[in-house]
Amino acid sequence: MSQVINILFSFTNIMSVHSSANIKRITTHTLQEMKQRGEKISMLTAYDYSMAKIVDEAGIDIILVGDSASNVMAGHETTLPITLDQMIYHASAVVRAVKRAFVVVDIPFGNYQGNSSEALRSAIRIMKESGAHSVKVEGGSEIRESVLRILSAGVPVMGHLGLTPQSIYKFGTYTVRAKEEAEAQKLLEDAKTLEECGCYALVLEKIPATLAKKVAETVSIPVIGIGAGGDVDGQVLVMHDMLGITQEFKPRFLRQYADLQGVMMDAFKRYISDVKARDFPTESESY
Ligand code: KIV
Repeated sequence: MSQVINILFSFTNIMSVHSSANIKRITTHTLQEMKQRGEKISMLTAYDYSMAKIVDEAGIDIILVGDSASNVMAGHETTLPITLDQMIYHASAVVRAVKRAFVVVDIPFGNYQGNSSEALRSAIRIMKESGAHSVKVEGGSEIRESVLRILSAGVPVMGHLGLTPQSIYKFGTYTVRAKEEAEAQKLLEDAKTLEECGCYALVLEKIPATLAKKVAETVSIPVIGIGAGGDVDGQVLVMHDMLGITQEFKPRFLRQYADLQGVMMDAFKRYISDVKARDFPTESESY
């Protein structure tokens, strides 16, 4: 009898891992529950189908189709040049791959800041054309009208405070933000404003850990940090940085989990050498 129960149990386990019908999708509600029970939220960027499929199968909670695609995919110096059409292209590829993670898409620079109608149009295009689950915007009280307008259409909004790369020319550098009391106070107020508007989560980038902790304790929505210390509700990194594909960007907060640049360089060099040496393809690799 116990053997039958064991077999049934392992069969049920196999089913729950392999059947996509059994995969429970992450929602804004799941993320809120995770904060409430103190379970940390994992978030990484992805910009294409193949990478998104792997990171989703690994069990990531949130995939951010970040406008960092402008840097790591297109080679631009900043996130400013990427367009709404390009973000939708990346996002739709990611969405096709994902079965479990919650997919968030950055609204690019220039498509939401000055005009709440345009913000709403941009968010609706992202949701309709890519099938993503949410949008992310950078800034606090300055973009309040845009945030409210997007939320009024039922589109979940993630905020982003601290080092906001779309404002890099205002800051002038990529150094730690909100070290001074006035900026720290404004950031805390902005976090409360975004929560009051109805944002379901916030990203805090490159700010002192003590300030990030204070924000995470003050607001009831999940706070995801990048360079904001460990006392927040979750962490986000740019996939290409944590995989060691980008080599030139090594800030203190970045933990590199692989050296894919080295692995890829080795594979490319061996392939080139095999082709030159007429060692590829062999007979068994031919028809
Ligand atoms: O675009 C991006 O990758 C981001 C993360 C750094 C949070 O906004």
